[in-house]
Amino acid sequence: MKVLVTGGTGYIGSHTCVSLLNSGSDVVIADNLSNSRLEVLNRIEKITGKKPVFYKTDLRDKTELYKIFEKENIDSVIHFAALKTIPDSIAHPLEYYENNVAGTMNICHAMKEYNVKKIVLSSSAAVYGLTDNNPIKETAPLFPYNPYGRTKMIQEYIVSDFAKSEKAGAVILRYFNPIGAHESGLIGEDPMGTPSNLMPYISQVASGRLEKLFVFGNDYNTPDGTGVRDYIHVCDLAEGHIKALEKLDIIKDKVLTVNLGSGHGYSVLEIIKSFEKASGIKINYEIAPRREGDVGTCFADITLAQKEIGWKAKRNIEKMCLDEWTWQKLNPKGYEY
Ligand code: NAD
Ligand code: WQD
Repeated sequence: MKVLVTGGTGYIGSHTCVSLLNSGSDVVIADNLSNSRLEVLNRIEKITGKKPVFYKTDLRDKTELYKIFEKENIDSVIHFAALKTIPDSIAHPLEYYENNVAGTMNICHAMKEYNVKKIVLSSSAAVYGLTDNNPIKETAPLFPYNPYGRTKMIQEYIVSDFAKSEKAGAVILRYFNPIGAHESGLIGEDPMGTPSNLMPYISQVASGRLEKLFVFGNDYNTPDGTGVRDYIHVCDLAEGHIKALEKLDIIKDKVLTVNLGSGHGYSVLEIIKSFEKASGIKINYEIAPRREGDVGTCFADITLAQKEIGWKAKRNIEKMCLDEWTWQKLNPKGYEY
């Protein structure tokens, strides 16, 4: 089976490529390297013994995208490529709509043109917006509250409408908070600039790249007052994509939407403690005001993922922190070494 992985040199994409190669699939990556580096390909090869076929392609360029479909005999698509930083999406909404929406349109056009009938789409808990009706079920109303979340919701509509009209199958995966890295420490999250997410921020404080973590609010209605989230190991998430592809062979022309989370919530202070335990390093932090647009608690109902794709996260919070730290320790400047 040959899988086109858009955004395959990115954080979640690279881990998924490792799972795909290990499960015997052929992998073709299309990525414009706007938020990733070519070195990732060498690292994937070191882990799996196989190097994916790589095209430096921007999905907004339909002609270039079609050339990939023309040349490679693609069976299915996993569509990761997107811009994903919430504050950035508020500052540059048009760039986000153009990149995420136009990229998805072009992927669907190419699938239609080349008769490809299977797609897995990366979506996000961001589509649920400010709900605190936890655990969040897939049937919850969609109220994304920032441009990034809205592009994810629009991507979902495009893919599911396309799948229905073309009699294609689609699995839409809504990730909660992916963290951690491959346990080899060879691949991991390499944010460009100062991270806006908690885990990369903590690990850069631990490595001395950043001075101090600001904990956004300790007056939420949670056991210790800090925000509670559903963290999931990126390798569990990657394995969820393999299950989703397998499911596509069964559902054929249906659309299935599932949450991928651990189903458990951990507070910011619990994450700091776990990370300190895994790394043996004290994290310098200070309580700061709440961040605008944050909810107190957000975690997934994972019943459907278990029932429909037979998937459940296996790695616990200690493992997530340990693997995150191994990656950070071995690559203090990310892929630039
Ligand atoms: P990432 O930035 O590490 O990876 C995305 C990749 O897509 C990058 O390599 C980037 O260069 C590429 N890309 C972006 N726009 C492109 C374009 N127009 N053409 C070609 N390549 C392009 O991000 P990630 O964390 O791996 O996220 C992957 C997907 O998962 C995204 O769709 C994101 O919205 C979704 N998601 C991420 C998280 C998270 O916390 N990381 C949570 C929920 C959903
Ligand atoms: C986690 C917790 C913060 C940074 C976002 C998107 C979601 C998905 C993952 C893409 C919160 C607190 C954070 C810091 C802190 N991405 N925090 N200090 O906001 O839950 O989710 O990223 O789709 O859709 O919404 O993740 O990692 O930013 O925050 O105290 O420096 O850590 O307040 O409680 P979030 P996060």
